[in-house]
Amino acid sequence: MKLQLGLVLFGFTLAMGQIVPRGSWCPVPISPRLPRLVGPVRLIIIHHTVTASCFNPQQCLLALRQIRADHLRRKFRDIGYNFLIGGDGRIYEGLGFGIRDEHAPNYNSQSIGIAFIGNFQSGLPPPQMLQAARTLIQIGVQRRQVLPNYTLVGHCQTKATACPGKHLLEELKKWPRWQPKP
Ligand SMILES: *[C@@H]1O[C@H](CO)[C@@H](O)[C@H](O)[C@H]1NC(C)=O
Ligand SMILES: [Zn+2]
Repeated sequence: MKLQLGLVLFGFTLAMGQIVPRGSWCPVPISPRLPRLVGPVRLIIIHHTVTASCFNPQQCLLALRQIRADHLRRKFRDIGYNFLIGGDGRIYEGLGFGIRDEHAPNYNSQSIGIAFIGNFQSGLPPPQMLQAARTLIQIGVQRRQVLPNYTLVGHCQTKATACPGKHLLEELKKWPRWQPKP
C-alpha cells in the first residue's frame, strides 16, 4: 500500500511532456518473452480505448490497470498498446518503444500504437491530450524509435473498426504526417 502511494506521488511530480513509466501504474514487469520491436518504425497507429476518460493521475492509473486487465481477459499477453494518453495530458508507457504491440494485426511489427484513453466517437479529445500525443511522436523520432518520415494513421485505416473514433480521425488528418494509407 505504501509502495503504491509512493508511485502515485511519483506520477504527480513528472513534468508535462515526459513519459510516465510503466512501473508507476503496473506492478508487473513486461515478460521477457514478449516479441521485441526493432526501431525505428515507419508507422504510428492511433487508437482510442473505448473506456471512460480519466482526468487526473489517480483516475488514469486506475483506467490503465482496467485496460490491461481487459486486454489480458481478451488473451493479449499484456496491455496491447505501446503508449497511452491520459485526459490529464500525460503520456503513459504501456509496452514502451522496444516491445511489439498487439492491436493492429499485420502492422504490429512495424508500428507504434498510441491509445487515447476515452471514447472519441462523439467528441474530440481535449487539447492537452492532442498535445501530449504530438510530443510523444517527437520523442519517438528524437530517440530514433520512429523514422522522421513516419506515416501516421488511425486504427480504422488498417482494418474495419471505428477506432479511434471519427472526431479524433478528422483531427489526425490535419497533422503533418497523416497519410490516407498505412
Ligand atoms: C523514409 O526514410 C527511410 C530511411 O531514411 C528510407 O529508407 C525510406 O525509403 C523513407 N520512406 C519514404 C516513404 O520516404
Ligand atoms: Zn484501435
